[in-house]
Amino acid sequence: MTATENGTNSGTQSYVNTMPSSDFTWQITLAEKVIAITGANRGIGLGIAEVCFANSAKAVYSLDLMEPGEDFAGLQKKYPNFRYIQTDVTSEESIQNAVDQIVEENGRVDGLVANAGMTKHQPALQFDRPELEKLFNLNVFGAYFCAQIFARKFMELGIKGSIVMTASMTSYRPNRAAPSAPYGATKAAVRNMCHTLAMEWSKHGIRVNSISPGFVRTAMTYYVEHAPDWDLKMQYYGGMPRLADPRELGGAYVYLLSDGSSYTTGIDIPIAGIVGAW
Ligand SMILES: NC(=O)c1ccc[n+]([C@@H]2O[C@H](COP(=O)([O-])OP(=O)(O)OC[C@H]3O[C@@H](n4cnc5c(N)ncnc54)[C@H](O)[C@@H]3O)[C@@H](O)[C@H]2O)c1
Repeated sequence: MTATENGTNSGTQSYVNTMPSSDFTWQITLAEKVIAITGANRGIGLGIAEVCFANSAKAVYSLDLMEPGEDFAGLQKKYPNFRYIQTDVTSEESIQNAVDQIVEENGRVDGLVANAGMTKHQPALQFDRPELEKLFNLNVFGAYFCAQIFARKFMELGIKGSIVMTASMTSYRPNRAAPSAPYGATKAAVRNMCHTLAMEWSKHGIRVNSISPGFVRTAMTYYVEHAPDWDLKMQYYGGMPRLADPRELGGAYVYLLSDGSSYTTGIDIPIAGIVGAW
């Protein structure tokens, strides 16, 4: 192993080099990797979990507040290493307990997808402070403390961890189909914090990126296809006139969680079928 491979540098500052070892196959794979995904009992998180397993993840943990339902059970039947730890990402204690349990069971954890989030659609003039606090508490504070607590664990274990956050296309521009000014602001915060976390933690070999989905078929987009003018709206938006299956996002998460993306940090990948072309 060379000095570059073992992660030390003789320059002015030492840092952990994320370059894969010389026997790395350059295949995009999650083989041997243990991944935690917040809010993976359903929706986008569940879709990401499935694609992680399709790409050989060793174990995937859903850190979710609600009890697992049929969707979770269906995927677990196919992949018994899909596990659930009841977690409230708005509580640092709960996040800490979850990461400790994962490491106790596997001796390691390699990746975090900070995905749990919520929205509320109503005109900007109607939002009051408690409603904003609820959105920021889950979407921003939840993602931040998950990243912080997992990063500490990666550092403690000497693991070159990867953190991926689920932002949103609303972090770039309004959702014309169902406006929510505070939600867009929370997702802009999520996308933005990744830049600085990536900068601060690169010396520890930890990478931080985000993904910005457009319209994805989940409970969160319940309203979309029921809207009587949906077809017209889609025409107006341009791009692919349909919702995404959550699994269509998975490849990007797998890439960012894998060692194949060893030089990719601090970026956002928008995945929106060019809906609302920008
Ligand atoms: N669906 C879309 O079109 C879309 C588009 C862009 C971004 N997003 C983002 O994707 C992420 C997932 O959204 P989704 O559409 O799958 O929503 P969803 O409501 O189907 O799933 C969210 C999951 O998060 C869990 N959760 C809620 N509060 C929690 C907490 N305090 N602790 C732990 N888990 C908690 C829920 O129980 C649920 O399983 C969210 O961050 C959302 O903002 C969704």
